[in-house]
Amino acid sequence: MSQERTLILLKPDAVQRRLIGRILSRIEDKGYKIAGLKLIQVTPELARKHYAEHVEKPFYPNLEEFITSSPVVALVVEGPEAITVMRSMMGATNGRAANSGTIRGDFGSSRQMNLIHGSDGPDAARREIEIYFEPHELHDYSLALSSVLVASDE
Ligand code: RTP
Ligand code: MG
Repeated sequence: MSQERTLILLKPDAVQRRLIGRILSRIEDKGYKIAGLKLIQVTPELARKHYAEHVEKPFYPNLEEFITSSPVVALVVEGPEAITVMRSMMGATNGRAANSGTIRGDFGSSRQMNLIHGSDGPDAARREIEIYFEPHELHDYSLALSSVLVASDE
């Protein structure tokens, strides 16, 4: 079982709707570790870097306006298969299509204002963590409960 780190953003709609605590609780409840956490204002430059794959798409201007509209919470989540598990906890991109029980499915009904970003693979996770965090902002520590979260042979 691979321990992974993934870049998560709680987008401006999550901050404005005061859902930070409830979304962070889901991540903590899952047993994952928060290796880095901060509130930051995304600039247009940072948005273009992060969403480089989307810059030429027709929806990009709206996406940039949205993601820079107020601060976001950036965090690095660490744990077993954290990249894919966080993506399934988030749900489908469009909140109207996302399953109940997922963050987007439970809290949203929009394709753009979908509350949360998560890296979509190991290469994206590495690239995005470097964009948002300096090495000294990431912390190695043990969770005291780790022995009851997953078995040692998993
Ligand atoms: P994210 O990158 O934010 O985790 O979301 P995702 O992988 O589920 O979706 P992606 O296709 O990467 O799209 C990035 C973000 O752009 C907005 N979007 N708008 N108007 C549109 O057609 C459209 N499509 C995507 C959403 O905020 C989406 O999360
Ligand atoms: Mg994406």
